[in-house]
Amino acid sequence: MKKELKIKVNGQPYDLFVKPNTLLSEVLRDDLGLTGTKRGCNSSSCGACTVMLNGMSVKSCSVLAIQANGSELVTVEGLAKGNKLSPLQNAFLDHGSYQCGFCTPGMLMSSKALLTENPKPTKEEMKEGIDGNICRCTGYNSIIRAITAVVKGEYKEAK
Ligand code: FES
Ligand code: FES
Repeated sequence: MKKELKIKVNGQPYDLFVKPNTLLSEVLRDDLGLTGTKRGCNSSSCGACTVMLNGMSVKSCSVLAIQANGSELVTVEGLAKGNKLSPLQNAFLDHGSYQCGFCTPGMLMSSKALLTENPKPTKEEMKEGIDGNICRCTGYNSIIRAITAVVKGEYKEAK
C-alpha cells in the first residue's frame, strides 16, 4: 500500500504517494524528473546519487523515500540560481574537475555538504568529505583544487 510522502526539494514542496520500499533516488529521478542525481551502483558504494537531506549528505540509493518524509532536500539542480552557477560549479568548471561527468553531481553535493558544515576545511577534511564518492576519471586532485579555490573565496555566490 502506498504511503504519503511530503518533501521539499530545492525549495519546492511535493506531496506524493510512494510504496514503502521505494528509494529516495527513485522518487527524485523517476517521479520528480530530477535526473541530475545519478544512479550508479545502487548499493551505497559510488556516491553518484548523493543529495543533501536536511543539510547532511546522504546517498539517496540507500534511503527509503518514506524516511525522508517531512524533510528538505537539495539536489544538484538546486545549486545554481537561475542560470548562474554556484561557486562550486564554477570552480569545478575552471579546474577541470570532471571528465565524463557521471560522478560530478554527487561530488558537488558532497562538497556542498562539507562546506555547509565546515566552511574552512583542511585538505585532509576535503578528502574525507568526498571519500564516499568514486571518480574513475580525474584522479581527484582537480576536485580538491576546485574545493580549495572556493574555500579561499575565489568564487562568490551569485546574487
Ligand atoms: S548509486 Fe548510490 S552510492 Fe552508488
Ligand atoms: S568525471 Fe568520470 S567518473 Fe568522475
